Amino acid sequence: MSKILVTGGTGFIGSHTVVELYNAGYEVVIVDDFSNSNPKILQQIETITGNKPEFVQLDLCDEAKVKDFVAKNSDISGVIHFAAFKAVGESVQQPLKYYRNNFYSLINLILAFDSKVNLVFSSSCTVYGQPDVLPVTEDAPTKKAESPYGNTKQIAEEILQETCAVTPGLNVTSLRYFNPVGAHHTALIGELPIGVPQNLVPFITQSAIGKRGPITVYGDDYNTPDGSAIRDYIHVVDLAKAHVAAIRRLESGKATSNYEVFNLGTGKGSSVLEIIKAFEQSTGVKLNYTIGARREGDIEKVWGDVSKSSRDLEWKAELDLAEMMSSAWKWEQYLQENPF
Ligand code: WQD
Repeated sequence: MSKILVTGGTGFIGSHTVVELYNAGYEVVIVDDFSNSNPKILQQIETITGNKPEFVQLDLCDEAKVKDFVAKNSDISGVIHFAAFKAVGESVQQPLKYYRNNFYSLINLILAFDSKVNLVFSSSCTVYGQPDVLPVTEDAPTKKAESPYGNTKQIAEEILQETCAVTPGLNVTSLRYFNPVGAHHTALIGELPIGVPQNLVPFITQSAIGKRGPITVYGDDYNTPDGSAIRDYIHVVDLAKAHVAAIRRLESGKATSNYEVFNLGTGKGSSVLEIIKAFEQSTGVKLNYTIGARREGDIEKVWGDVSKSSRDLEWKAELDLAEMMSSAWKWEQYLQENPF
C-alpha cells in the first residue's frame, strides 16, 4: 500500500488523520518538530492502531534537511501538510514568525519533491472572512484576512494555485476547514492547547473540569437568532476521514484539475450558546458562563456549502454535535488522569 508523509502528524488534526490513514490501509511516515504537539502522541497512535508510525523530527524550514529527508524516502507517494503555526492572536504579535514558518515549510516541501507530488494542503475557512452569502461555496471570493495567520493560509493557496498552473506534475488539494472540535472515541488523542485555550470548545472542557473559570461568550449582540456568533463545527474524526478521501481522489486521477479546493464542514451553523447547551445536554455537566464583549477580528456567522466535497470527495461529515461534545469531554477527563 502507498506510503503517505504527514507533516505535523503529532498535532490535533494530524494525529487523527494518521489514525484514519492506517484504518484505510496506508503506510505513514510522520515529520514533526513538536513545536505545537507532544511526543507522547506517537505512543497513543500506536495504542489505537497497533502501528508504530515511522517518525522523523525535522524543522521543515531547513531546506537542506527537507531535501535530504525526501531523497532518503523515495517511497512516499503523497503528502498531507499540516505543519504550520495556527494561533490567530499570536500571529498578530509575531507576524514574521508565522510568515517564515508557514511559507518556508510549504515551499521547501514542494521543492524537495522536485514539484512532482500529490499534496493535500491544510487550509481554513478563514480565507472567506465574513462571507456575503451563506452557506459559503468554494468559489466565493476570499477576503483580506483579519490576521497574519489567516493571511498565510490565503497566500499559501495562491502560491499553490499559481505553481500548479505551470507545473503539471504537482497535484494539490486545498482543504478549507471550518471549526474542528472533539476527539477520538478512545479519548487517547485530542486537542492539546498550549496555555489558555483561545478556541471555544477546549475552553469549555477546561472550564467544565475546573481548570478555568467561567466561559466568556464573546458577544450576544450579533445579528443571529440568539445573538451569539455562528460557526460550522465539525468532528475532528470526520475531518481526518476527508483527508484520506482527498488522497484517494488524487491517486484515482479523477481530479478535474491539478489544483482543487474543498470545504470541510457539516453545512450546519451552531451559535456559541447552542454549543454551550449541546455540551451540557451531552455530558450532563452544567457550565458557568458570562456574556462579554465581542472579540476583535471575529466574524458574525459562517457555515459551509459542502455539496462539492460530498460529490467529488465522496465524503460527508457523519458525527453530530452531541458526539463532538461528549468526545471532547472524555478527552479532557483522560488528560486530568494522564497529564501529558
Ligand atoms: C468560535 C466562536 C468566538 C472562545 C479559529 C480560527 C480558525 C480555526 C478555528 C485554525 C467564536 C467564540 C471563543 C471563547 C467565545 N483555526 N468564543 N468564547 O475563531 O471561529 O476560528 O479557530 O485553523 O482558522 O480563526 O474559533 O473556537 O476561537 O471561536 O465566545 O472563550 O466561539 O467568538 O464566535 P474561530 P474559536
